[in-house]
Amino acid sequence: MKLKDTLAVNSFDYAYLTKRIYKYIKPYLFRIILGFLIALPVGALDGVIAYALKPYMDEVLIKKNMLLAYIIPFGIVAFAALQGLLRYLNDYLTNWTGQKVTNDVKLGLFKKLVQMDAKFYDENSSGIILTRYLTDPDTASKGILDNLKALMSSGIGAFALIGVMLYNSWELAVVGVVVLCIAFLPAAIIRKRIKKASNETMKIGGNIMTDFNETTQGNKIVASYNLADYQFSKFSKEIRDSFDVNMSLVKRVAWMSPIMYTIASVGIAIVMAFGTYLVLSGRMTSGSLLSFVTSLLLLYKPVKTLGNTLTTLQTIFVSLCRTLELFDIEPEIKDSENAVELNEIKQGVSLENVCFEYVKDTPVLKNINLSANVGETVAIVGNSGGGKTTIANLIPRFYDVTSGAVKIDGVDIRDIKIDSLRHHISVVFQDNFLFSGTIRENLLMGNFDASDAELEKVVQAAHLDEFLCEMSDGLDTEIGERGTTLSGGQRQRVAIARAMLKDSPIIILDEATSALDNKSEAVVQKALDNLMQNKTVFVIAHRLSTIKNADKIAVINEGELVELGTHDELLAKENGFYKRLYEMQFAKKDTVLAE
Ligand SMILES: Nc1ncnc2c1ncn2[C@@H]1O[C@H](COP(=O)(O)OP(=O)(O)O)[C@@H](O)[C@H]1O
Ligand SMILES: [Mg+2]
Repeated sequence: MKLKDTLAVNSFDYAYLTKRIYKYIKPYLFRIILGFLIALPVGALDGVIAYALKPYMDEVLIKKNMLLAYIIPFGIVAFAALQGLLRYLNDYLTNWTGQKVTNDVKLGLFKKLVQMDAKFYDENSSGIILTRYLTDPDTASKGILDNLKALMSSGIGAFALIGVMLYNSWELAVVGVVVLCIAFLPAAIIRKRIKKASNETMKIGGNIMTDFNETTQGNKIVASYNLADYQFSKFSKEIRDSFDVNMSLVKRVAWMSPIMYTIASVGIAIVMAFGTYLVLSGRMTSGSLLSFVTSLLLLYKPVKTLGNTLTTLQTIFVSLCRTLELFDIEPEIKDSENAVELNEIKQGVSLENVCFEYVKDTPVLKNINLSANVGETVAIVGNSGGGKTTIANLIPRFYDVTSGAVKIDGVDIRDIKIDSLRHHISVVFQDNFLFSGTIRENLLMGNFDASDAELEKVVQAAHLDEFLCEMSDGLDTEIGERGTTLSGGQRQRVAIARAMLKDSPIIILDEATSALDNKSEAVVQKALDNLMQNKTVFVIAHRLSTIKNADKIAVINEGELVELGTHDELLAKENGFYKRLYEMQFAKKDTVLAE
């Protein structure tokens, strides 16, 4: 599922949107309705003022009724004060409910996001994920209540004013309403344009976020390759694109308001001419005309708001629709219906006729058969790009096999509960992700229930104590985003200690020492040796000693398992792959066997 390719098909299917969003609104329904109810009198104030003008003109100014002369102004002030109070309550309620709904939607989305599989993250950039999981829902749920509220109160305002107009002269009112309806026609035309522009904006917004993420995360590369200008020009292009999309929307939409105004002014002109005639011919009092024209003029504001709100709501509906779509994205890798818990592993892990492709019709692994019995160490070697990491990815189900099966004790791992499967596997990569926070927090991710004694044990076994003792805060040292304040070897040791705390029976090591210099490699290797003890291990390694000690060596070439055996067996093969790799390594006088 590529997030940027959304079409937001159901944006204007209001029944669909209502049905979907209702779940999130339901817990706050009472408050939302209360907010709307409070909005009703707020909208009606203008109508009351316009209405009051008729008795004011006819009774006070013409007939000199002085009692009303006092009552009407006071009445208006009292009503406005009441309206102010209600407006405050309404604002409070709408914001409260709006935030709550937004939070619930965001929480729901985050819950979905953390379940997504590796393929989802392959397909979608961090920027597009941020935009769609954070920005869109914000726009959608915050905006929707605000605008619905505005729609309600302007609608009520317009209704009240039209009521006053009808009360004063139905003939004039009919003219006014007909003109109003004509003025609203353009609103229907612009919906599609808004949707297209909104999808474009979302896409560009995602690219902009990605630019930011890459600039921060790749800051050293940006600096060392002098990419500041390059990044800047990439960013300026995104900004220009975003400008163009917005302006093209403005060009296509902004004519709506002026057109509405022009049509409305024609209405006012007609009403004034017709009204003057009615007053002069004695069919209407001048108070009625004053009240009517005031209503008509006051009608401008709610009608303008209605126009703007309708436009904004279209944008919001597109965002809302996009947000709701996210709830429909299911990870491809999830528990099967009859998934079982994995208990103690008795036999081992096996890959049976495993074929795999990341991209359709581009086979990466071809019919691999490989097994590791409990307690065995299987080394996987081969040229770069051959598929070693891919094999490692399949065992914890980061990806699912295209055909064949990975089995544990004969059970297809697709029939094992994912949590349970992953609980039994620890993976240590070449570059391990540490989280911002302290070393202790990072270690405890391996096992949140670990005792201080257990922590101390892994600190020793992973050789963390060597550098912890130099840190004033010890285990409570903050290590920065992704652990940036640690050296590569230190990060690796923290990752190994984290895996040790997890203490899972299956260990997968993917070139865990290959990014390190000789000195840190030696100490990390000691830590790894401790981690591997008494475990079932798949190790993709470049160090001869690790490989030599393995129970089995699997040589992977271009996605195929070309040789399998012990070090001695494989060396005995004339012209064998392993023999060549081994000799190459000696010729180069370094320890790189697999890249
Ligand atoms: N996420 C991915 N999406 C598409 N292709 C991938 C992905 N990861 C790896 N590949 C491709 O799969 C092949 C095997 O990669 P990998 O298993 O990482 O090799 P190795 O670990 O042996 O160096 C390579 O051709 C690589 O380009
Ligand atoms: Mg690899």
